[in-house]
Amino acid sequence: MKYHIVTYGCQMNLHESEKIAGVLREEGYTEEAPLEEADIIVFNTCCIRENAENHAFGNIGALKKLKRQKKTLLIAVGGCMVQEEGKARLLKEKFPFIDILFGTHSLPMLSALIRKKRAERKTAVSLLPAREGAEDGILPVRTSYPNAWVNIMYGCNNFCSYCIVPYVRGREISRAKEDILREVRSLVKEGYREITLLGQNVDSYRGADGTDFAALLEEVASVEGDFRVRFMTSHPKDFSEKLVAVMKRHKKICKHLHLPVQSGNDRILRLMNRRYTREKYLEELAVLRREIPDCEVTTDLIVAFPGETEEEFEDTLSLVEEADFSSAFTFIFSPRTGTKAAEMEGQISEEVAKDRITRLVALVNEKTRQKSARYVGKEIEILCEDYDEKRGLYLGRDEYGRMGYFRSGKNRVGEFVRLRIGEANGISLYGEEV
Ligand code: SAH
Ligand code: SF4
Ligand code: F3S
Repeated sequence: MKYHIVTYGCQMNLHESEKIAGVLREEGYTEEAPLEEADIIVFNTCCIRENAENHAFGNIGALKKLKRQKKTLLIAVGGCMVQEEGKARLLKEKFPFIDILFGTHSLPMLSALIRKKRAERKTAVSLLPAREGAEDGILPVRTSYPNAWVNIMYGCNNFCSYCIVPYVRGREISRAKEDILREVRSLVKEGYREITLLGQNVDSYRGADGTDFAALLEEVASVEGDFRVRFMTSHPKDFSEKLVAVMKRHKKICKHLHLPVQSGNDRILRLMNRRYTREKYLEELAVLRREIPDCEVTTDLIVAFPGETEEEFEDTLSLVEEADFSSAFTFIFSPRTGTKAAEMEGQISEEVAKDRITRLVALVNEKTRQKSARYVGKEIEILCEDYDEKRGLYLGRDEYGRMGYFRSGKNRVGEFVRLRIGEANGISLYGEEV
Protein backbone atom coordinates (compact mmCIF):
# COMPACT_ATOMS: atom_id res chain seq x y z
CA MET A 1 0.00 0.00 0.00
CA LYS A 2 1.20 3.48 -0.90
CA TYR A 3 0.67 6.96 0.49
CA HIS A 4 0.69 10.53 -0.75
CA ILE A 5 0.88 13.60 1.49
CA VAL A 6 0.06 17.14 0.37
CA THR A 7 1.54 19.79 2.66
CA TYR A 8 0.61 23.46 2.97
CA GLY A 9 2.01 26.13 5.28
CA CYS A 10 5.14 26.56 7.34
CA GLN A 11 8.19 24.44 8.27
CA MET A 12 6.27 23.21 11.30
CA ASN A 13 3.79 21.61 8.91
CA LEU A 14 6.55 20.21 6.69
CA HIS A 15 7.96 18.45 9.70
CA GLU A 16 4.54 17.34 10.87
CA SER A 17 4.04 15.73 7.46
CA GLU A 18 7.22 13.75 8.10
CA LYS A 19 5.57 12.53 11.29
CA ILE A 20 2.36 11.75 9.41
CA ALA A 21 4.47 9.61 7.06
CA GLY A 22 5.89 7.91 10.15
CA VAL A 23 2.40 7.00 11.32
CA LEU A 24 1.41 5.77 7.85
CA ARG A 25 4.45 3.45 7.73
CA GLU A 26 3.31 1.95 11.02
CA GLU A 27 -0.10 1.34 9.50
CA GLY A 28 1.27 -0.63 6.56
CA TYR A 29 1.71 2.04 3.91
CA THR A 30 5.21 1.22 2.80
CA GLU A 31 6.10 3.84 0.21
CA GLU A 32 5.30 7.31 -1.05
CA ALA A 33 3.68 7.47 -4.50
CA PRO A 34 2.08 9.99 -6.88
CA LEU A 35 -1.46 11.04 -6.01
CA GLU A 36 -3.14 8.76 -8.57
CA GLU A 37 -1.38 5.65 -7.28
CA ALA A 38 -1.87 6.22 -3.57
CA ASP A 39 -4.06 4.09 -1.30
CA ILE A 40 -4.24 6.90 1.24
CA ILE A 41 -4.00 10.64 0.55
CA VAL A 42 -3.38 12.98 3.45
CA PHE A 43 -3.81 16.75 3.26
CA ASN A 44 -1.87 18.64 5.92
CA THR A 45 -3.54 22.05 5.81
CA CYS A 46 -2.73 25.66 6.73
CA CYS A 47 -5.10 28.52 7.51
CA ILE A 48 -2.72 31.44 8.04
CA ARG A 49 -4.23 33.37 5.11
CA GLU A 50 -7.38 32.91 3.09
CA ASN A 51 -5.55 31.83 -0.05
CA ALA A 52 -3.89 28.95 1.83
CA GLU A 53 -7.38 27.68 2.66
CA ASN A 54 -8.70 28.19 -0.84
CA HIS A 55 -5.87 26.12 -2.28
CA ALA A 56 -6.65 23.25 0.06
CA PHE A 57 -10.40 23.44 -0.59
CA GLY A 58 -9.83 23.37 -4.35
CA ASN A 59 -7.46 20.43 -4.24
CA ILE A 60 -9.51 18.38 -1.80
CA GLY A 61 -12.57 18.94 -4.00
CA ALA A 62 -10.66 17.63 -7.00
CA LEU A 63 -10.23 14.24 -5.28
CA LYS A 64 -13.89 13.34 -5.64
CA LYS A 65 -13.32 11.69 -9.02
CA LEU A 66 -10.34 9.67 -7.81
CA LYS A 67 -12.34 8.46 -4.84
CA ARG A 68 -15.18 7.33 -7.13
CA GLN A 69 -12.76 5.37 -9.32
CA LYS A 70 -11.00 3.71 -6.44
CA LYS A 71 -13.38 2.72 -3.67
CA THR A 72 -10.65 1.58 -1.29
CA LEU A 73 -8.83 4.93 -1.36
CA LEU A 74 -8.74 6.68 2.00
CA ILE A 75 -8.70 10.48 2.19
CA ALA A 76 -7.55 12.16 5.38
CA VAL A 77 -7.43 15.88 6.12
CA GLY A 78 -5.50 17.28 9.07
CA GLY A 79 -3.59 20.33 10.23
CA CYS A 80 -4.39 23.90 11.17
CA MET A 81 -7.47 24.40 9.02
CA VAL A 82 -9.17 21.36 10.52
CA GLN A 83 -8.55 22.77 14.02
CA GLU A 84 -10.22 26.06 13.09
CA GLU A 85 -13.61 26.67 14.71
CA GLY A 86 -16.35 25.13 12.59
CA LYS A 87 -14.09 24.13 9.70
CA ALA A 88 -14.14 20.38 10.29
CA ARG A 89 -17.93 20.43 10.03
CA LEU A 90 -17.78 22.54 6.89
CA LEU A 91 -15.26 20.17 5.30
CA LYS A 92 -17.46 17.20 6.11
CA GLU A 93 -20.50 18.88 4.59
CA LYS A 94 -18.75 20.03 1.46
CA PHE A 95 -16.72 16.89 0.89
CA PRO A 96 -18.63 13.92 2.33
CA PHE A 97 -16.04 11.62 0.76
CA ILE A 98 -13.41 12.62 3.34
CA ASP A 99 -12.71 9.56 5.50
CA ILE A 100 -10.61 11.00 8.31
CA LEU A 101 -10.39 14.45 9.91
CA PHE A 102 -7.72 15.15 12.51
CA GLY A 103 -6.81 18.43 14.21
CA THR A 104 -3.37 19.79 15.12
CA HIS A 105 -3.34 18.06 18.50
CA SER A 106 -4.59 14.74 17.16
CA LEU A 107 -1.59 13.39 15.28
CA PRO A 108 -1.06 10.68 17.92
CA MET A 109 -4.66 9.59 17.16
CA LEU A 110 -4.08 9.11 13.43
CA SER A 111 -3.30 5.37 13.70
CA ALA A 112 -6.50 4.74 15.62
CA LEU A 113 -8.48 6.85 13.17
CA ILE A 114 -7.21 4.86 10.19
CA ARG A 115 -8.15 1.59 11.88
CA LYS A 116 -11.53 2.92 12.89
CA LYS A 117 -12.26 4.04 9.35
CA ARG A 118 -11.27 0.67 7.93
CA ALA A 119 -13.78 -0.96 10.29
CA GLU A 120 -16.79 1.33 9.83
CA ARG A 121 -18.31 3.67 7.22
CA LYS A 122 -18.57 6.80 9.36
CA THR A 123 -16.02 9.61 9.00
CA ALA A 124 -13.38 9.17 11.69
CA VAL A 125 -12.81 12.48 13.48
CA SER A 126 -10.48 13.66 16.24
CA LEU A 127 -10.31 17.30 17.30
CA LEU A 128 -8.52 17.21 20.64
CA PRO A 129 -8.58 20.69 22.23
CA ALA A 130 -4.93 20.75 23.36
CA ARG A 131 -1.63 18.91 23.06
CA GLU A 132 -1.02 16.00 25.37
CA GLY A 133 2.51 16.76 26.52
CA ALA A 134 5.51 17.74 24.45
CA GLU A 135 6.52 14.26 23.21
CA ASP A 136 4.41 12.46 20.65
CA GLY A 137 6.68 9.43 20.33
CA ILE A 138 6.27 9.39 16.54
CA LEU A 139 9.31 8.48 14.46
CA PRO A 140 9.32 10.83 11.44
CA VAL A 141 10.16 9.73 7.91
CA ARG A 142 12.52 12.57 7.09
CA THR A 143 12.42 13.98 3.58
CA SER A 144 14.66 17.03 3.79
CA TYR A 145 18.16 15.52 4.04
CA PRO A 146 20.76 17.00 4.64
CA ASN A 147 18.53 19.19 6.81
CA ALA A 148 16.60 17.81 9.75
CA TRP A 149 13.77 19.71 11.42
CA VAL A 150 13.67 19.50 15.19
CA ASN A 151 10.73 20.88 17.15
CA ILE A 152 11.75 22.58 20.36
CA MET A 153 8.32 23.88 21.27
CA TYR A 154 4.73 23.92 20.09
CA GLY A 155 2.00 26.56 20.12
CA CYS A 156 2.07 30.30 20.66
CA ASN A 157 0.92 32.64 23.43
CA ASN A 158 1.56 35.93 21.65
CA PHE A 159 -1.80 36.62 20.08
CA CYS A 160 -0.64 39.07 17.44
CA SER A 161 -4.00 40.56 16.54
CA TYR A 162 -3.99 39.34 12.92
CA CYS A 163 -2.83 35.81 13.59
CA ILE A 164 -4.79 32.58 13.87
CA VAL A 165 -1.88 30.40 15.00
CA PRO A 166 -2.54 30.67 18.77
CA TYR A 167 -6.13 29.51 18.16
CA VAL A 168 -5.25 26.51 16.03
CA ARG A 169 -1.95 25.49 17.61
CA GLY A 170 -2.83 26.15 21.23
CA ARG A 171 -0.70 27.36 24.12
CA GLU A 172 3.08 27.18 24.24
CA ILE A 173 4.62 23.95 25.39
CA SER A 174 8.36 23.28 25.35
CA ARG A 175 10.09 19.95 24.92
CA ALA A 176 12.56 18.86 27.55
CA LYS A 177 16.14 19.89 26.80
CA GLU A 178 17.40 16.32 27.11
CA ASP A 179 14.87 15.04 24.58
CA ILE A 180 15.92 17.72 22.09
CA LEU A 181 19.63 17.06 22.59
CA ARG A 182 19.16 13.32 22.28
CA GLU A 183 17.35 13.84 18.97
CA VAL A 184 20.03 16.21 17.67
CA ARG A 185 22.87 13.86 18.62
CA SER A 186 21.27 10.93 16.88
CA LEU A 187 20.51 12.99 13.75
CA VAL A 188 24.11 14.14 13.53
CA LYS A 189 25.24 10.55 13.96
CA GLU A 190 22.92 9.52 11.13
CA GLY A 191 24.67 12.05 8.88
CA TYR A 192 22.38 15.07 8.86
CA ARG A 193 24.43 18.19 8.17
CA GLU A 194 21.95 20.86 9.18
CA ILE A 195 19.68 20.99 12.20
CA THR A 196 16.85 23.51 12.12
CA LEU A 197 15.23 24.16 15.48
CA LEU A 198 11.54 24.94 15.08
CA GLY A 199 9.05 26.87 17.15
CA GLN A 200 6.39 29.50 16.46
CA ASN A 201 8.45 31.72 18.68
CA VAL A 202 11.70 30.01 19.64
CA ASP A 203 12.56 32.73 22.17
CA SER A 204 9.68 31.50 24.32
CA TYR A 205 11.45 28.19 24.83
CA ARG A 206 11.66 27.25 28.52
CA GLY A 207 13.09 23.95 29.68
CA ALA A 208 11.78 22.42 32.89
CA ASP A 209 15.04 23.45 34.57
CA GLY A 210 14.59 27.05 33.37
CA THR A 211 16.84 26.70 30.30
CA ASP A 212 16.08 29.57 27.93
CA PHE A 213 16.47 29.53 24.15
CA ALA A 214 19.97 31.02 24.07
CA ALA A 215 21.20 28.33 26.48
CA LEU A 216 19.49 25.57 24.53
CA LEU A 217 20.98 26.84 21.27
CA GLU A 218 24.41 26.86 22.85
CA GLU A 219 24.04 23.24 23.92
CA VAL A 220 22.81 22.19 20.51
CA ALA A 221 25.74 23.95 18.86
CA SER A 222 28.08 22.17 21.27
CA VAL A 223 27.05 18.72 20.07
CA GLU A 224 30.02 17.09 18.37
CA GLY A 225 30.04 16.62 14.60
CA ASP A 226 30.23 18.35 11.24
CA PHE A 227 26.89 20.15 10.98
CA ARG A 228 25.34 23.58 11.23
CA VAL A 229 22.40 24.93 13.17
CA ARG A 230 19.50 27.14 12.12
CA PHE A 231 16.45 28.20 14.07
CA MET A 232 13.14 29.89 13.49
CA THR A 233 11.16 31.96 14.24
CA SER A 234 12.47 34.72 16.53
CA HIS A 235 10.28 37.51 17.86
CA PRO A 236 11.70 41.06 18.10
CA LYS A 237 10.04 41.61 21.48
CA ASP A 238 12.26 38.85 22.94
CA PHE A 239 15.51 39.78 21.23
CA SER A 240 18.40 39.30 23.64
CA GLU A 241 22.11 40.13 23.64
CA LYS A 242 22.62 36.73 25.19
CA LEU A 243 21.31 35.12 22.01
CA VAL A 244 23.58 37.30 19.88
CA ALA A 245 26.55 36.33 22.05
CA VAL A 246 25.79 32.63 21.57
CA MET A 247 25.48 33.11 17.80
CA LYS A 248 28.78 34.91 17.79
CA ARG A 249 30.55 32.28 19.90
CA HIS A 250 29.58 29.20 17.93
CA LYS A 251 30.74 28.65 14.38
CA LYS A 252 28.10 26.00 13.86
CA ILE A 253 25.28 28.51 14.21
CA CYS A 254 24.41 30.08 10.88
CA LYS A 255 24.84 33.83 10.70
CA HIS A 256 21.27 34.38 9.71
CA LEU A 257 18.40 35.70 11.76
CA HIS A 258 14.81 35.59 10.57
CA LEU A 259 13.25 38.42 12.54
CA PRO A 260 9.74 39.26 11.33
CA VAL A 261 9.00 42.96 11.76
CA GLN A 262 5.56 43.00 10.05
CA SER A 263 5.33 46.82 9.82
CA GLY A 264 7.54 49.89 9.99
CA ASN A 265 4.91 52.02 11.72
CA ASP A 266 4.48 52.23 15.50
CA ARG A 267 0.73 52.72 15.52
CA ILE A 268 0.23 49.69 13.30
CA LEU A 269 2.68 47.64 15.38
CA ARG A 270 0.65 48.53 18.46
CA LEU A 271 -2.60 47.52 16.77
CA MET A 272 -0.90 44.29 15.73
CA ASN A 273 -0.03 43.68 19.40
CA ARG A 274 3.63 43.15 18.50
CA ARG A 275 5.02 44.82 21.64
CA TYR A 276 8.04 46.58 20.09
CA THR A 277 8.56 49.81 18.19
CA ARG A 278 10.30 50.55 14.93
CA GLU A 279 13.10 52.17 16.88
CA LYS A 280 13.58 49.16 19.15
CA TYR A 281 13.66 46.88 16.13
CA LEU A 282 16.32 48.95 14.41
CA GLU A 283 18.34 49.06 17.64
CA GLU A 284 18.26 45.29 17.76
CA LEU A 285 19.62 45.09 14.22
CA ALA A 286 22.34 47.54 15.20
CA VAL A 287 23.37 45.39 18.18
CA LEU A 288 23.34 42.28 16.02
CA ARG A 289 25.50 43.88 13.35
CA ARG A 290 27.87 45.43 15.83
CA GLU A 291 28.56 41.98 17.28
CA ILE A 292 28.29 39.93 14.07
CA PRO A 293 28.88 42.39 11.22
CA ASP A 294 28.22 39.90 8.44
CA CYS A 295 25.01 38.46 9.93
CA GLU A 296 22.14 38.49 7.43
CA VAL A 297 18.60 39.34 8.44
CA THR A 298 15.37 38.32 6.73
CA THR A 299 11.87 39.34 7.72
CA ASP A 300 8.11 39.07 7.18
CA LEU A 301 6.01 42.10 6.22
CA ILE A 302 2.25 42.62 6.14
CA VAL A 303 0.60 45.39 4.11
CA ALA A 304 -2.94 46.75 4.36
CA PHE A 305 -3.49 45.96 8.02
CA PRO A 306 -6.89 47.51 9.00
CA GLY A 307 -6.64 51.29 9.16
CA GLU A 308 -3.17 51.46 7.60
CA THR A 309 -2.84 54.84 5.88
CA GLU A 310 -0.65 55.58 2.89
CA GLU A 311 1.86 57.32 5.20
CA GLU A 312 1.91 54.38 7.57
CA PHE A 313 2.52 52.03 4.67
CA GLU A 314 5.37 54.26 3.54
CA ASP A 315 6.94 53.75 6.97
CA THR A 316 7.23 50.08 6.04
CA LEU A 317 8.91 51.04 2.76
CA SER A 318 11.37 53.29 4.56
CA LEU A 319 12.11 50.58 7.11
CA VAL A 320 13.00 48.23 4.28
CA GLU A 321 15.36 50.91 2.99
CA GLU A 322 16.95 51.28 6.42
CA ALA A 323 17.09 47.72 7.69
CA ASP A 324 19.15 46.15 4.90
CA PHE A 325 17.29 42.82 4.81
CA SER A 326 18.74 40.17 2.54
CA SER A 327 15.18 39.17 1.62
CA ALA A 328 11.65 39.38 2.96
CA PHE A 329 8.37 37.49 2.78
CA THR A 330 5.58 39.93 1.97
CA PHE A 331 1.88 39.38 2.62
CA ILE A 332 -1.42 41.19 2.17
CA PHE A 333 -3.34 41.23 5.45
CA SER A 334 -5.94 38.48 5.39
CA PRO A 335 -8.76 38.71 7.95
CA ARG A 336 -9.00 35.47 9.94
CA THR A 337 -12.27 34.74 11.71
CA GLY A 338 -11.87 34.86 15.47
CA THR A 339 -8.86 37.20 15.51
CA LYS A 340 -9.08 40.80 16.77
CA ALA A 341 -7.87 42.38 13.55
CA ALA A 342 -10.64 40.75 11.53
CA GLU A 343 -13.13 42.85 13.54
CA MET A 344 -11.19 46.11 13.39
CA GLU A 345 -12.50 49.16 11.57
CA GLY A 346 -10.89 50.42 8.40
CA GLN A 347 -10.46 47.17 6.46
CA ILE A 348 -8.50 48.09 3.34
CA SER A 349 -9.85 47.57 -0.17
CA GLU A 350 -8.30 44.95 -2.41
CA GLU A 351 -7.28 47.62 -4.89
CA VAL A 352 -5.25 49.57 -2.32
CA ALA A 353 -3.79 46.39 -0.86
CA LYS A 354 -2.64 45.19 -4.28
CA ASP A 355 -1.05 48.53 -5.05
CA ARG A 356 0.85 48.45 -1.74
CA ILE A 357 2.08 44.90 -2.07
CA THR A 358 3.24 45.58 -5.64
CA ARG A 359 5.28 48.57 -4.50
CA LEU A 360 6.69 46.71 -1.50
CA VAL A 361 7.66 43.64 -3.53
CA ALA A 362 9.39 45.85 -6.11
CA LEU A 363 11.44 47.50 -3.38
CA VAL A 364 12.30 44.24 -1.60
CA ASN A 365 13.35 42.65 -4.91
CA GLU A 366 15.50 45.61 -5.83
CA LYS A 367 17.25 45.47 -2.43
CA THR A 368 17.78 41.73 -2.75
CA ARG A 369 19.16 42.20 -6.25
CA GLN A 370 21.63 44.85 -5.09
CA LYS A 371 22.79 42.63 -2.24
CA SER A 372 23.23 39.59 -4.46
CA ALA A 373 25.16 41.55 -7.08
CA ARG A 374 27.85 42.19 -4.47
CA TYR A 375 28.73 38.50 -4.44
CA VAL A 376 29.80 38.25 -8.05
CA GLY A 377 33.50 37.38 -8.05
CA LYS A 378 33.42 36.27 -4.39
CA GLU A 379 33.44 32.81 -2.83
CA ILE A 380 30.71 31.26 -0.73
CA GLU A 381 30.39 27.89 0.98
CA ILE A 382 27.09 26.13 0.60
CA LEU A 383 25.61 22.96 1.98
CA CYS A 384 24.40 21.16 -1.14
CA GLU A 385 20.79 20.22 -0.47
CA ASP A 386 19.15 19.31 -3.77
CA TYR A 387 19.43 18.81 -7.52
CA ASP A 388 17.29 20.91 -9.85
CA GLU A 389 16.51 18.54 -12.70
CA LYS A 390 15.06 21.17 -15.00
CA ARG A 391 18.16 23.31 -14.85
CA GLY A 392 20.62 20.50 -14.39
CA LEU A 393 22.14 22.27 -11.37
CA TYR A 394 22.89 21.36 -7.78
CA LEU A 395 21.85 23.92 -5.18
CA GLY A 396 22.22 24.78 -1.55
CA ARG A 397 22.40 27.63 0.92
CA ASP A 398 25.35 29.22 2.59
CA GLU A 399 25.21 30.02 6.29
CA TYR A 400 23.79 33.45 5.52
CA GLY A 401 20.84 31.93 3.72
CA ARG A 402 21.97 32.78 0.18
CA MET A 403 21.08 30.21 -2.47
CA GLY A 404 23.97 29.01 -4.62
CA TYR A 405 23.71 26.90 -7.82
CA PHE A 406 26.44 24.91 -9.52
CA ARG A 407 27.08 22.12 -11.98
CA SER A 408 28.64 18.81 -10.99
CA GLY A 409 29.22 15.42 -12.55
CA LYS A 410 28.37 13.51 -9.39
CA ASN A 411 25.82 13.64 -6.61
CA ARG A 412 26.87 16.29 -4.10
CA VAL A 413 23.81 16.40 -1.85
CA GLY A 414 24.90 16.54 1.79
CA GLU A 415 28.35 17.97 1.07
CA PHE A 416 29.73 21.39 1.93
CA VAL A 417 30.88 22.95 -1.36
CA ARG A 418 32.87 26.15 -2.04
CA LEU A 419 31.69 28.17 -5.02
CA ARG A 420 33.15 31.14 -6.87
CA ILE A 421 30.16 33.25 -7.90
CA GLY A 422 30.00 34.24 -11.55
CA GLU A 423 26.46 35.51 -11.80
CA ALA A 424 23.67 36.77 -9.56
CA ASN A 425 19.97 36.75 -10.31
CA GLY A 426 17.49 37.82 -7.62
CA ILE A 427 18.37 35.84 -4.50
CA SER A 428 20.08 33.13 -6.57
CA LEU A 429 23.83 33.01 -7.07
CA TYR A 430 25.45 30.93 -9.80
CA GLY A 431 29.00 29.73 -9.50
CA GLU A 432 31.66 27.14 -10.11
CA GLU A 433 33.24 24.88 -7.59
CA VAL A 434 36.67 25.98 -6.40
N1 SAH B 1 5.45 32.38 14.38
C1 SAH B 1 6.01 32.94 13.25
C2 SAH B 1 5.23 32.62 11.98
C3 SAH B 1 3.89 33.18 11.87
S1 SAH B 1 3.11 32.95 10.35
C4 SAH B 1 6.17 34.40 13.52
O1 SAH B 1 5.67 34.90 14.49
O2 SAH B 1 6.84 35.05 12.73
C5 SAH B 1 4.25 33.65 9.23
C6 SAH B 1 3.92 35.02 8.77
O3 SAH B 1 2.64 35.07 8.19
C7 SAH B 1 3.87 36.06 9.85
O4 SAH B 1 5.13 36.50 10.23
C8 SAH B 1 3.06 37.15 9.19
O5 SAH B 1 3.89 38.02 8.46
C9 SAH B 1 2.16 36.39 8.24
N2 SAH B 1 0.78 36.39 8.68
C10 SAH B 1 0.26 35.84 9.79
N3 SAH B 1 -1.07 36.06 9.86
C11 SAH B 1 -1.40 36.77 8.75
C12 SAH B 1 -2.63 37.33 8.26
N4 SAH B 1 -3.76 37.20 8.92
N5 SAH B 1 -2.58 38.00 7.09
C13 SAH B 1 -1.42 38.16 6.42
N6 SAH B 1 -0.25 37.67 6.84
C14 SAH B 1 -0.23 36.98 8.00
FE1 SF4 C 1 1.25 34.40 15.05
FE2 SF4 C 1 2.40 36.32 16.42
FE3 SF4 C 1 2.43 33.84 17.36
FE4 SF4 C 1 3.88 34.46 15.23
S1 SF4 C 1 4.15 35.28 17.31
S2 SF4 C 1 2.57 32.68 15.47
S3 SF4 C 1 2.62 35.99 14.19
S4 SF4 C 1 0.62 35.12 17.11
FE1 F3S D 1 1.96 26.95 9.96
FE2 F3S D 1 -0.13 27.65 8.55
FE3 F3S D 1 -0.48 26.39 10.78
S1 F3S D 1 1.70 28.81 8.80
S2 F3S D 1 1.23 26.92 12.05
S3 F3S D 1 0.54 25.62 8.97
S4 F3S D 1 -1.71 28.05 10.05
